Amino acid sequence: MALRLGDLAPDFTANTTHGTIRFHAWQGDAWVILFSHPRDFTPVCTTELGAVAGLKGEFERRNTKVIGLSVDPLGAHRLWEGDIEDVTGHAVNFPMIADPDRTVAVLYDMIHPNAYDMATVRSVFIIGPDHRVKLLLAYPASTGRNFKEVLRALDSLQLTANYAVATPADWQDGDDVIVLGRLSDDAARARFPKGFIAKKPYLRMTPQPNR
Ligand code: BEZ
Repeated sequence: MALRLGDLAPDFTANTTHGTIRFHAWQGDAWVILFSHPRDFTPVCTTELGAVAGLKGEFERRNTKVIGLSVDPLGAHRLWEGDIEDVTGHAVNFPMIADPDRTVAVLYDMIHPNAYDMATVRSVFIIGPDHRVKLLLAYPASTGRNFKEVLRALDSLQLTANYAVATPADWQDGDDVIVLGRLSDDAARARFPKGFIAKKPYLRMTPQPNR
């Protein structure tokens, strides 16, 4: 069955370019971005993995571990890493799962046969420290992902987890945020020292609380 938001991210053991991992133990108490790419030695994937490697500091600042997956074998991943550094200038600095028998791909519903039956689509799972799925994306093989958007969504998820706020359309780090409806006005005043502006009773804006 397909994974849905709030589901427990399935645990698994897999061979990766950083050795064999048991997923939940590897995650520890960090956030995780698990993303699949359709095949090794393909153009869009090459640019994506370099882009993610270049964001290492951003992920570390957010207590977030990154792990990639493709259905190609470990030897291919290792050979391909050289090309990725060559093309993008970034050495791959996160583990890549080798999933030639598609165990993890099936577990995470990353194969969408009506879109691309050869391998996985471009899935992204953001998984919270509680091992629950917080966000899902599925892009076709031909569309490279915007990893700045993945970071933006991660920031939103972490704000919600830590401060009881939501983020509006097109929100960027530093913009005002929305007080969650479950907080009464009195509770919101106590929680947000800078106060809030009620544009509607159900739409209360407050400055980003971790700024
Ligand atoms: C690519 O990464 O360029 C790609 C991979 C699989 C199918 C089509 C494109």
